[in-house]
Amino acid sequence: MPVHRVLFTALGREVPLAVRRLAWLPRAMIPLTNAHDPESFRRDGHRIVDRLADYLRRAASGSLPVLPAASPDDARANFPADLGATPREDLDALAERVIESAQHLHHPRYVGHQVTPPLPRAALFELVSALLNNSMAVFEMGPGGTAMEDAVIRTFARALGFGDGARGVLTSGGSIGNLTALLAARRAKAPPDVWAEGLAGTPPLAVLASRDAHYSIARAAAIAGLGEQAIVPVAIDPRRRMRPDALGDAFDRARHAGRTPIAVVASAGATPTGSFDPLVPIAEFCAARGLWLHVDGAHGASAALSPRHRHLLEGIERADSVVWDAHKMMMMPALVTAVLFREGRSSYEAFAQDASYLFHGADAEEPWFDVGRRTLECTKRMLSLPLYACLRTLGTAPFAEYVERTFALGRRLYERLAEAPDFEAPVEPEANIVCFRYMSSTLTHMADVDALQERIRKRVVASGRYYFVQTRLDDRLYLRTTLMNPATTDDDLAGLLGAIREAAAQGA
Ligand SMILES: Cc1ncc(COP(=O)(O)O)c(C=O)c1O
Repeated sequence: MPVHRVLFTALGREVPLAVRRLAWLPRAMIPLTNAHDPESFRRDGHRIVDRLADYLRRAASGSLPVLPAASPDDARANFPADLGATPREDLDALAERVIESAQHLHHPRYVGHQVTPPLPRAALFELVSALLNNSMAVFEMGPGGTAMEDAVIRTFARALGFGDGARGVLTSGGSIGNLTALLAARRAKAPPDVWAEGLAGTPPLAVLASRDAHYSIARAAAIAGLGEQAIVPVAIDPRRRMRPDALGDAFDRARHAGRTPIAVVASAGATPTGSFDPLVPIAEFCAARGLWLHVDGAHGASAALSPRHRHLLEGIERADSVVWDAHKMMMMPALVTAVLFREGRSSYEAFAQDASYLFHGADAEEPWFDVGRRTLECTKRMLSLPLYACLRTLGTAPFAEYVERTFALGRRLYERLAEAPDFEAPVEPEANIVCFRYMSSTLTHMADVDALQERIRKRVVASGRYYFVQTRLDDRLYLRTTLMNPATTDDDLAGLLGAIREAAAQGA
């Protein structure tokens, strides 16, 4: 036992931290040892968690600006790059500045992009994941994480109505999830040597998708070597859902352009308005033409957890692949996306290649547990942990309730807009995304109405009272809200319309 420890033990006292640190110095002349000190971690952790708990209370009470007013240059000045060999700031001051400068998703008047206020418990397990740093590519580097990932995947597969043969993986976001699914589709429907040889010499391929499909679909097509032009748009109905009767036309257009269609991508719900494409007739079309059906359920697949909204996904059990983001409608910190394959074999095909330094054995039967084989990532965070921990310790009921409350908020906002003569909401929402615009009686040109929406948004967001975004539908500009916070109230919704009217009255 070191001398200092003997001394303090003889005195019957705990060794003070400062002495422990000094005692270490001769052995480790660098502060790195202190940076790994468990007691410092305990102390820092309590301070940070206390601060975050206070923050959650302040955010919930609405006493913060939703988005602090700061230009990119202000933000840069707030986080100087003068990082040197010695500390520049203490932990509390930095933590406070980080919190103050953030977009505040836990504020009930955050109604912007599809990013959720995470469950605090999920954030705690993020910390566990970060500290354990199990990297997941091969079982041995993350045994528990791998098993939890399998449990999450099987839970999701069951919720979608897939059979026991379904498999899947967790990956870092819906965009990578869509890429993974399209690569599997390409593998299944295009000549098998594409992985090794590339697409040169292969006839051009096509993917049919609604006009409102997320841009990551076109990006995935480009990355997969199909080219963005491979995306053939399918017409949509007035509620912005894919028209199944227009699929044949899109198929023929692809053929006329010299392309071979391999897949249809349906959205459940689509990014601009949350609309759910009708999956049953789309699945029938795919079955009849031998096409892969991918359902981008990044936003809306969580409806599978709600008995009230499950019907929106009818037919999803016939999809070949589904993407489901838990960081959107399951209150998880970004990013955690499930890519699910109805036929488990497909889950091994997106990235099938030889990497014998990682994977051992002849693989007569593919092992489920070396997940790096099936993802774009090699090293991957322990994505399953916060999700598994919350499902396990809270049950699935809070997740169903989350979907139901936020979808109900979307409907309530739509009802308020429908009653208001000075607002126009073109699409009745099926989920929690609502687009609308303020209609000024003095503006007749649509371009001026568009410009007004932009000015309104800038003014309200700059005030810190609300955060919402904007989007184009049929080339017209709309204000776009996603009701992500279950703590948002009907009064908050009324206040939103009030804030917009005020901004318009001030000339926006
Ligand atoms: C329907 C849909 N798919 C995919 C994505 C991309 O997901 P991520 O941001 O996790 O990459 C989004 C994001 O908004 C989305 O709405």
